[in-house]
Formats: sequence, structure tokens, C-alpha cells
Amino acid sequence: MIFTGSHILSVEQFERADIERIFTVADAMAPYALRRRVTRVLEGAILGNMFFEPSTRTRISFGCAFNLLGGEVRETTGFESSAIAKGESLYDTARVLSGFSDVICMRHPQEGSVAEFAEASRVPVLNGGDGANEHPSQALLDLYTIRKELGSKNRGIDGLRIALIGDLKYGRTVHSLCKLLCHFSQVHVTLVSPTELAMPESIVEEMRAAGHTVIVTEDLTQSISSVDIAYSTRIQEERFASKEEADMYRGRFRLNQSIYTQYCEPNTVIMHPLPRDSRADANELDNDLNQNPNLAIFRQADNGVLVRMALFALVLDVVDQVDKYARDVNWYNSLRTL
Ligand code: NCD
Repeated sequence: MIFTGSHILSVEQFERADIERIFTVADAMAPYALRRRVTRVLEGAILGNMFFEPSTRTRISFGCAFNLLGGEVRETTGFESSAIAKGESLYDTARVLSGFSDVICMRHPQEGSVAEFAEASRVPVLNGGDGANEHPSQALLDLYTIRKELGSKNRGIDGLRIALIGDLKYGRTVHSLCKLLCHFSQVHVTLVSPTELAMPESIVEEMRAAGHTVIVTEDLTQSISSVDIAYSTRIQEERFASKEEADMYRGRFRLNQSIYTQYCEPNTVIMHPLPRDSRADANELDNDLNQNPNLAIFRQADNGVLVRMALFALVLDVVDQVDKYARDVNWYNSLRTL
């Protein structure tokens, strides 16, 4: 694909070569994300960061990624603080905001809303999550993490064995991740969820058509016994009709150190897009895993900055100029490794 000036709305836009390109650029962003170097390549550029659903990681990570490239961030969070609460349409908001910004990131509870917004936008729009539909930057950072974690064990994504656990119906991160995995070969995917929260059939079909082995089950311990990656997800309470309905599924698939030791292969990597629900009735990834070196959840979040820097650099066509506008940092740097 041609990245320059493009919206990033769905992982379906990418071919395998595009994914590799994003990862190569993300690798090159490490000195900046680690604060060894600073670059001013996007000096003067403005990111409009519009988050109409709760977000910590994605919003701040997009913002930091833009700042690390030298750009400025303006943002609005929630409907209450935006003119959408006064009845303004996505079309009008997009026309106006795109006149103020060089690129826009947007999260919105409605499926397809970010694409609708992008149609009216005069600048590239990056999807930060549209309802239960897609979360492309998260899937890219997840796959980037998988590549890095397995790479250190001399393995690649082809032939990957992965278990996706939890709310696979409403979890947009796993929808996008499964679609991305279709570009690779011989992937063994185990989908672990309550039947009512199963992965949409169209995505299962897509994976099977890509030649992947897909197993659908409710059995957690058996599923995690022979995988490279155990990827847990949160019950997406905000997409249920009521809290009580979500409560029926919360805490169904808990992973803790003793289950890990008993059932997983020694080097199984644990992932989660975060936030993990750490309340007692959920506790999908127990805190006793925090010392487990294979818990990759915080490395995942770190990697998100690299991947989002890469997306900005590609969409705004500055990949080749990042180093030209760079210098060493002045301050004491406590971030040594990622
Ligand atoms: C995810 C999301 O918003 O879809 N969070 C994130 O962006 N890292 C997952 C979730 O909220 O459960």
C-alpha cells in the first residue's frame, strides 16, 4: 500500500510486505522511544487526538509517539467535552478538526464511525478503536511483540501457536490480530471463550481459508498447554446490555502462576492488550505473574509507542528524515532497554 497520506482504518488494508515495512520502521524508532535521541522531524505538525471512549494506553501512546517525533498534540476526550454532545455530526466535526490538524487519531464506540469520520476528513485518520470492530494499531503492536518475543527464541510468526482467551466476540484487538495473522502461514489458533462470546464466524472462516488450524473450545488449561503465546482479554463490559450480563462471564478464564507452572510450556509468553481487569471477581491475569519473565504485557505497551511512531512517520512521509533532525538527549535517561 501507499502509506503517505493514507487513513489507517482496518488491518485489511495491509499486505504482508506492509506489515514488515511498519515493523522495520518501528525498529528504527527505538533510540527515540528509549530517549537516547530526540528528533524534531515533525516540528510544527499537530495531531488531533479524539477519544470518545475511555483510554489510557492508546491515547497517551499515540500522543507520546507524536511528541517523540517532535509534533504537538491537541485532544478531546469523552462526548461531554465535545460539540458532538450538542448534536454536531461526525461529518462536521471531521471537516473542522481536519482543518486544525495534520493527522487525527480517533476512538469511538460505534462500529464504522472512524471510517465515516475519515471520509469527511481532509487529513489522514488513524483508527484508535471503533466499537467492537477493529483496533489496527493494537493488533500491529501485538504482532510486533509476538515477532520480538519469539525472535529472541529464534522463531518467527509463521508456524506460531497462539491461544486467544476471553471475550472474543466484542474484543476488537483480537479481531484485528486474527485478520493480520492471515498473512502468515501455518498458524495454530486456539479460541477460548464462553460459547456466547465466541469469535465472529467470518473471522474464523478467514483464518481457515488462510490455511490456519483453528480450534474453538471452552477449556483453558488444555488450550494453554502447547502454545507459544497465551493472549488473554478482558470481558468488554461496556458492550453488554447490562453489567449483570457481563458479570456472568467475568473471571471465567483466570491465569495465575500456579496454573502457568502446571500447564504451560516453560517459555510460553503471556500477552494482554490491557487494561487487565484486576478486580477480585475478574482477575484474568493474576498479579502473581508479575515476576514471570514471560509476562510480556508491559513490553507490549512499550512496543505500542514504536509502532505508532512508525505509523505517523509513514503516513506523514518522514521516515527518511527522522535521523536528519535528531540529536542526543540532554537529560539523564533512566530508560535503558525495551
Ligand atoms: C483494548 C481496547 O480498547 O480495545 N485496550 C487497548 O486499547 N489497549 C482492550 C480493552 O479495552 O479491553
